[in-house]
Amino acid sequence: MLVLKGKATSFLGKIMSWQNKSYNVETMRRLAQAELPQPIFDFADGAAEDERTRQRNESAFDDYWLLPKPMNGAAKRDLSIDLFGHKLSMPVMIGPTGLSGLFWPNGEQATARAAAAAGTGFCLSHGSVCTLEALAETRAHPRWMQVFLYRDRDFTQELVRRAEAADYDAIVLTIDNQVLGKRERDLANGFTIPPKFSPSQYAAMLSKYKWFWRMRGELSRITFGNYVRPGKKEDIKQLAARMAYLLDPGLTWDDVDWIRGMTKKPLIIKGILSPDEAEAAVQNGVDGLVVSNHGGRQLDGAISSLEALPGVVRQVAGRVPVLLDGGVRRGTDVVIARALGASACLLGRPQLWGVSVAGEAGVRHMLDIYAKEIDTAMGLCGLHSIDDISADVLANPPGN
Ligand SMILES: Cc1cc2nc3c(=O)[nH]c(=O)nc-3n(C[C@H](O)[C@H](O)[C@H](O)COP(=O)(O)O)c2cc1C
Repeated sequence: MLVLKGKATSFLGKIMSWQNKSYNVETMRRLAQAELPQPIFDFADGAAEDERTRQRNESAFDDYWLLPKPMNGAAKRDLSIDLFGHKLSMPVMIGPTGLSGLFWPNGEQATARAAAAAGTGFCLSHGSVCTLEALAETRAHPRWMQVFLYRDRDFTQELVRRAEAADYDAIVLTIDNQVLGKRERDLANGFTIPPKFSPSQYAAMLSKYKWFWRMRGELSRITFGNYVRPGKKEDIKQLAARMAYLLDPGLTWDDVDWIRGMTKKPLIIKGILSPDEAEAAVQNGVDGLVVSNHGGRQLDGAISSLEALPGVVRQVAGRVPVLLDGGVRRGTDVVIARALGASACLLGRPQLWGVSVAGEAGVRHMLDIYAKEIDTAMGLCGLHSIDDISADVLANPPGN
């Protein structure tokens, strides 16, 4: 009787488990919403002003239809790609998101481990809770370090030097965050960066007791790890103020040139939407581009990443890899982005849903969802490898 009861409970446990309930990115998002205090969920899910750019990032994929040619398909598909000298298991990797450690204890390390276990890459945000050195202890490769251009140029240089010393594989310079966007969900929730733990914020946190219990020892330690100066006592509020002040809206190609001269690692610019800027980036010796509008979190009304992609790809004409992020929620989205010329896609919010639901296992699960969906789409389209994906796979390629 007891054995039967145990079996029934474990059966029930299995069908009720988060893995079974999260069979795609949207279900993972809903599970994350159930786990997280609303202000924290909204901090990740939200975007600037009316969130039109965020929505369009996703819906732009609906404009394209695939043209399957299943005859002579492959029994087994090869999803791997080579990117900056590293083999990735699929054309999907983890993009930089600040404060991942607010979603799960040591969230950055958990996410980097999951990426490594899935055989793909991870990019650390400048605004990580852990330091870039602590993240390096995971030994996850390839790992990239994202930086900004600061008014205090020495600090940019310091971050690049530290990333080199900690054996990061590439430097990512984000250019679309020099002025902070107006995120209205955060304003409505009273959520600030750094998180302000007021009585109402605590009430919101307590309502998500599992998250609160998990994070109980972490909350007082949430900080911007890379900005903490050894020997200096600055709380997260002071750090955030320094960080916001440090962002320099006056950046120029001379500055990019200066960073280029500072490192032999691949230099990738994130936040390119215009073909002219793509050309200038290539002229200035940049090794790769990320077509991105920061997930719509900065300039609402900016063109969606997918719509900007063909113009950038045409201009770059294969001189450097062009990556894309923004709204990639399905394996077919990755196939469409590849068909329009992207070498790989970066994930922003989906990694945060994964880590919020189950830490490293959650991100791993989320990456598996992408791998399986890409594989299914390729199998049904008759594609053997990622290199087979070209504009021919689209029923309506741009320009038709
Ligand atoms: C909570 C959050 C924090 C982010 N922090 C950074 C950051 O520190 N640096 C950066 O370059 N991009 C940052 N981004 C933008 C992402 O790297 C990426 O461009 C965007 O989220 C992609 O869109 P997606 O969320 O639709 O996948 C952040 C995004 C989110 C959601």
